[in-house]
Amino acid sequence: MHDLTDATARAVVLRAEIGEHNQRYYVLDDPQIPDAEYDRLFRELEDIEAEFPQLRSVDSPTQRVGSTPVEKFLPVEHVVPMLSLSNAFTDEDIRNFDRRSRETLELTTIEYSAEPKFDGLAVNLRFERGIFVRGATRGDGSTGEDVTQNLRTIRNIPLRLSGSAPEILDVRGEVILFKDDFELLNHRQREAGNKEFVNPRNAAAGSLRQLNPKITASRPLRFLAYGLGHILPQNQFRKHSETLSWLKSLGIPVSTEARIVTGPDGLQTYYESLQLRRESLPYEIDGVVYKINETALQERMGFVARAPRFAIAYKFPAQEALTVVLDIDIQVGRTGALTPVARLSPVFVGGVTVTNATLHNEEELRRKDIWIGDTVVVRRAGDVIPEVVRSLPERRPGTARTFAMPTRCPICGSAVSRPSDEAVARCTGGAVCPAQRKQALMHFASRRAMNIEGLGDKLIDQIVDAGLVTTAADIYSLSQQSLVDLPRMGEKSAKNVIESILNSRRTTLARFIYALGIRNVGEATAAELARYFGNLNALMVADIEQLQDVPDIGPTVSESICDFFADTRNRDNIDRLQAAGVSWDETLAGSGQSRGPLSGHTFVLTGTLRTMTRDEARVRIEQSGGKVLGSVSKKTKWVVAGEDAGSKLEKAHALGVSVIDENELLGLLIK
Ligand code: IVH
Repeated sequence: MHDLTDATARAVVLRAEIGEHNQRYYVLDDPQIPDAEYDRLFRELEDIEAEFPQLRSVDSPTQRVGSTPVEKFLPVEHVVPMLSLSNAFTDEDIRNFDRRSRETLELTTIEYSAEPKFDGLAVNLRFERGIFVRGATRGDGSTGEDVTQNLRTIRNIPLRLSGSAPEILDVRGEVILFKDDFELLNHRQREAGNKEFVNPRNAAAGSLRQLNPKITASRPLRFLAYGLGHILPQNQFRKHSETLSWLKSLGIPVSTEARIVTGPDGLQTYYESLQLRRESLPYEIDGVVYKINETALQERMGFVARAPRFAIAYKFPAQEALTVVLDIDIQVGRTGALTPVARLSPVFVGGVTVTNATLHNEEELRRKDIWIGDTVVVRRAGDVIPEVVRSLPERRPGTARTFAMPTRCPICGSAVSRPSDEAVARCTGGAVCPAQRKQALMHFASRRAMNIEGLGDKLIDQIVDAGLVTTAADIYSLSQQSLVDLPRMGEKSAKNVIESILNSRRTTLARFIYALGIRNVGEATAAELARYFGNLNALMVADIEQLQDVPDIGPTVSESICDFFADTRNRDNIDRLQAAGVSWDETLAGSGQSRGPLSGHTFVLTGTLRTMTRDEARVRIEQSGGKVLGSVSKKTKWVVAGEDAGSKLEKAHALGVSVIDENELLGLLIK
């Protein structure tokens, strides 16, 4: 292209197209073209701008890549100050917040916008006539730092707004790093021998405050808007929720998790549902924010110190805490894996008291530089096993000592081996090692495997130590009398255990495969194998190639499965289990109980739903791990009320069980 007029026209078209694809990709999460095609458009624009530099404009997507470094950030005054939020610490604080608001506004119920509290760095983005012209950090709330060049590199910030933009628009929001991108970034830091970031928020903050925008450009930051600052002409929307939708229509990314809720019950349900899904969100949140939705009402509420009275933040329990490593022990798993476990000074984190945390393996322990006596950061997120994130070497006492992996199994004394290409050290004792036997049996009896109620850790310790049981099949020949003879075992509990052993014989193929404890075969893989093969025999005779045809199964897992079934001891055990009456309905293959965000929670459905039948709702709740029961009790977590809900709804109210509507249910389900 050598003609300036043509080039000008083409550049305009390309910028619009690239902007649109950017928005589809980052804001709407719905890309339309392959990456290669996007790259082609981008290169074409770069070529044009290289040939005609006078065509380069500030809103050109080519200008994101990171300009020259600055010496320091210049101050930017916020026209409307960037305030902070008051915090709630208990459910009662939230009920008080609602009550105070109702009293001030003289209303019986209030509508709120409920939103995630993004865990990042607050910024203000200034758009003038739809063009991104300046961006600043919060600073002290009145004056922030000009980080425009760095913000330009953030791909989901539009450089030009779509639709009719106001004269001046200050958008408030948070710069964050998605969890996946954080992992990727730390992986890159590790490879390059650089220091890893502690968490996504620190990484985001560090990346945005780089004097060299090229560094920021290399970090996959994102922006999510949560409100407005200064705007000219005045905002015409009556509600905060409408403002958020409008921002989205301009091409500004907003969270899809915001909901309109009413009254204290609505606030509580939102908090609980978001807490349940916290782990599955792509970015970190540290709580929720509630805002009175109507702008006119917001204005009537006034301010306390530096925070508005119309909004409040309710944080989730902290997921990280500091404590001290008292000792490091070794645990021997059912596959013989030796896992170092930190014994901790008890610490309250993620809603529970933690006294042990896994250190995974030797390499991890070295990498994290954890010594006995160290002060460490412990993390417990959701239902995930607590782990030691890092140590604080600067607080290491003189008495601290390092830990060495043993060369002999601490349980059976067999040699420990660690192939050079593996991170895990293993006891070579196999079935000789009581620890491995016990672990394998515990796994076999566990709730998600054969679900033998009453056969827990302590009883397994006893029956193995007494020589009553060596392999899983032996469990089915236990007699009531042999159990009664054990110390601390009553007639009644022995009878119950035997009963649940007998009941466990009826199972599903998926559960059975999982219960076998094949290395690398977890619950999901077991379910997949059951679905694919339909019966046990087909699985047992499958070769490596056939196994790799199963969705999501690769060479490592295939090899573990083949090795397992090649071992005659395992095949004998299976024969004996089946001879003892363990069986399943082959047509029900794969229908193990599913895990999911709702696991452990029971629902009751009542009334007519709009978008699905009650049956469909049941299936979807079960797919998300929940359970649906026919009647309401105190143990019911949620009653889902549709049109014309009747006595079950009344009962829910009487028992104080949370009631949610169909929309709220949809928000809880796996998409
Ligand atoms: S609204 C006037 N909404 O939390 C109220 N803030 O503790 C202004 N934050 O500085 C804030 N998510 O950086 C609001 N959905 C959200 C938010 C949010 C995160 C941050 C924000 C603010 C801090 C206050």
